[in-house]
Amino acid sequence: MFYLKYRPKTIKEIDNLSAKVMIGKILESSTLPHAFLFVGQKGTGKTSTARILAKAVNCLNNKFSSNPSNDSQSYEPCNKCANCKSIGLSSFTDVIEMDAASNRGIEEIKNLIRETSFLPMSGGFRVFIIDEAHMITNEGFNALLKTLEEPPESAIFILATTNLEKLPKTIVSRCLKINFGKANTTDIYSMLKRIAKIENIDFSDDLLRLIASHSENSFRDGAKILEEVTFQKIKSVEEVERFLGIRGRNDLIEIIEKKDLKKTLSWIEDFSQNGGDFKSLIEDILNQLHSQLLIKNDVIKNEDNQTTLNLNEISLLMKLLIEAYQNLRNTPIDSLPVEIALIEFYNKIEGKKL
Ligand SMILES: Nc1ncnc2c1ncn2[C@@H]1O[C@H](COP(=O)(O)OP(=O)(O)O)[C@@H](O)[C@H]1O
Ligand SMILES: [Mg+2]
Ligand SMILES: [Zn+2]
Repeated sequence: MFYLKYRPKTIKEIDNLSAKVMIGKILESSTLPHAFLFVGQKGTGKTSTARILAKAVNCLNNKFSSNPSNDSQSYEPCNKCANCKSIGLSSFTDVIEMDAASNRGIEEIKNLIRETSFLPMSGGFRVFIIDEAHMITNEGFNALLKTLEEPPESAIFILATTNLEKLPKTIVSRCLKINFGKANTTDIYSMLKRIAKIENIDFSDDLLRLIASHSENSFRDGAKILEEVTFQKIKSVEEVERFLGIRGRNDLIEIIEKKDLKKTLSWIEDFSQNGGDFKSLIEDILNQLHSQLLIKNDVIKNEDNQTTLNLNEISLLMKLLIEAYQNLRNTPIDSLPVEIALIEFYNKIEGKKL
């Protein structure tokens, strides 16, 4: 998979300039913070950077190494020593990754905290990476707070989240916040160009730009689309447009704006026939509606991307889609929850029986 193959492995390779500079400065200084908070949209390099940081502080060949025969002043991980390699394979006992989306309760957090009392096995630091940190329960946060207030000398916490506003302020204030923001089209374009070169994919710049602009500000999505397009042997800009159209989420919102049930149902049918994943479809539409909500209320600025749906319609649609999302688990036919949600949406806003 391109997006895994081309995951950044050194701080130099991280494309988000501000995050890169900030982490570099921290690693250059003599004292390390014990708690980091990585904030940013999906696919902007939070997990990759957390692993790079874990390698950097445990590497046997850089400035953090306690090996007397090592005189390197670099803070970059070497990616060659036993520690770097084993962190790369997720088999290093001193780096503990927890996905809070599936381990959000007090027991899991308590287990994690218990782990922090052990000293590192191979020198360096024990690094605790908590992904989707906003999913932790209140009880879990309370337990974690105590540890973050007085972290053991040898422990480093890295909390990663896409939803800063869902984290308690008390937690946020104890962490050093690093913003990964969104990936911009130019950065994604240069990543695609780099991958295309190494993979010998001969695509025009226009084509790579088209893919970059459809990547929803995510490096991961960009790399995925490039891989799918190459796999399907698609070459021309028109073909790529068609390909993105079938899978494109913008399209569905545009159809919803027109409130055309027939077009909506046939779009969903196409999407389903093409192997589309309804879970990520709903997630993507909800993300877009959420942005639209913020744009409409001037919380964020974006003049050229405004939906014609009004606030009531946006919130009704979000509510119905969240229900559809929950119903995905129990449906015999994947497309049903979205179909029902949209039928109900049209029905409610038009106030008529369909
Ligand atoms: N800053 C970046 N520079 C280049 N590629 C990146 C960058 N961030 C993410 N990617 C690509 O996106 C993929 C997902 O990144 P990841 O670190 O898992 O993002 P997140 O944790 O923020 O969702 C990586 O495997 C890599 O291919
Ligand atoms: Mg991640
Ligand atoms: Zn190393």
